[in-house]
Amino acid sequence: MPDTITITDDRTGKTVTVPIEGGVFSAKAIRELDPSLFCYDPAYMSTAACKSAITYLDGDNGVLRYRGYPIEQLAERSTFLEVAYLLFYGELPTAEQFEVWTHDITHHTFIHENMRKRFVDGFHYDAHPMGMFVSAVAALGTFYEGAKDIDDDGARHKQILRLIAKVPTIAAMCYRFSVGQPFNYPTNALSYPANFLNMMWKVGPEYEIDPVLERAMDILFILHADHEQNCGTTAMRVVGSSHADPYSSAAAAASALYGPLHGGANEAVVRMLTDIGSIDNVAAFIESVKRGEGRLMGFGHRVYKNFDPRATIIKKTAYDVFEVTGKNPLLDIALKLEETALADSYFVDRKLYPNVDFYSGLIYQAMGFPVDMFTVLFAIPRTAGWLAHWQELLNDPEQKISRPRQWYTGAEERSYLPIVSR
Ligand code: CMC
Repeated sequence: MPDTITITDDRTGKTVTVPIEGGVFSAKAIRELDPSLFCYDPAYMSTAACKSAITYLDGDNGVLRYRGYPIEQLAERSTFLEVAYLLFYGELPTAEQFEVWTHDITHHTFIHENMRKRFVDGFHYDAHPMGMFVSAVAALGTFYEGAKDIDDDGARHKQILRLIAKVPTIAAMCYRFSVGQPFNYPTNALSYPANFLNMMWKVGPEYEIDPVLERAMDILFILHADHEQNCGTTAMRVVGSSHADPYSSAAAAASALYGPLHGGANEAVVRMLTDIGSIDNVAAFIESVKRGEGRLMGFGHRVYKNFDPRATIIKKTAYDVFEVTGKNPLLDIALKLEETALADSYFVDRKLYPNVDFYSGLIYQAMGFPVDMFTVLFAIPRTAGWLAHWQELLNDPEQKISRPRQWYTGAEERSYLPIVSR
């Protein structure tokens, strides 16, 4: 069987044959047939908009790999900072490379005092931390002269380090502001996750970080670091393709992540479980979902049609965390929901399984994070993924400014009528 596809334009009889590589054929074939012909593909269901060597995802078999390494191995044996290096450079670091990388990230964690004192203080006391995070990331770019020098490798690298280093600081700052507590400065002697937990929770002079919670945070960061061309990463690439600075592009990506169908789902899951209230109400809730009265949040995925490997790891991590924090009372409702849904043909036939967000919210809640912070916790590690894709985009000679076409369905030309004649 040849690895080609042949397309015939029945209007003209013209035919083109193009190769299929890696399950993809080039849309240039359509342009060759007729440059005025376009594919209609809402939500990019059948469109590969870029070549990428960062993350591999096989949705039918529940496979997720960063740069070839299975997510299960990275979650068990690596750290978030090592994974961030891997995403950027394509290889795991040597001990020497890792030392430099860790030093560079650790020494860019502070933010300008004006960010905290003037910018953040302008928010209303009950501002949603994710809204604050999105705008703070965009604002951060205005503090750095080199932010717009996206063609300069050195300047670009500096912004990448700054963003990865400063997003935990921004996230903790948003939280501390929302509860009216003084800001904790970063502590460079701590690991990336421990520094974040310290900035979040330290009240007195001493704050002891439980190593199980520190490791759980790192695992959650690893699992959320990248997920190929999802909505947020696509936003990063689309905005980055106009050569906007990386702070503005990352703020756009974070805005996309904010939505409840994307990174906002972890927040929606906990709200849903709280509303269900008891395992006795699970069956009725499932029936209401089947009647179309809402979605089972934390279930289903555009790509995973078997299981989400991140959900499997998160479920195990949840039990480790509960050993320390005590069981989240919503866990029983979640387990019952999962069991009921996975035994119901509505969910089975549509290949709807728990995704990364189904259990992550329960862990965050058990660790003491308010529900409003959940998507911020997703955005911290995903910043590394966004930036790896941003860099790949800028280095890809085949990429241009993103500019899809449309299928115009509006009015034909008509003449303007003065208001008195309408
Ligand atoms: N609950 C009930 N029904 C669902 C759900 C759900 N969670 N997800 C999909 N369906 C149904 C949907 O109604 C449709 O049914 P029908 O064919 O009868 O019209 C069918 O399954 C296919 O759904 P779809 O909306 O075409 O699927 P999609 O690939 O466009 O959507 C999704 C993927 C993740 C947006 C969707 O499954 C969903 O809304 N899930 C709940 C929100 C959620 O958990 N999001 C987190 C995703 S993972 C992390 C991330 O991306 O950030």
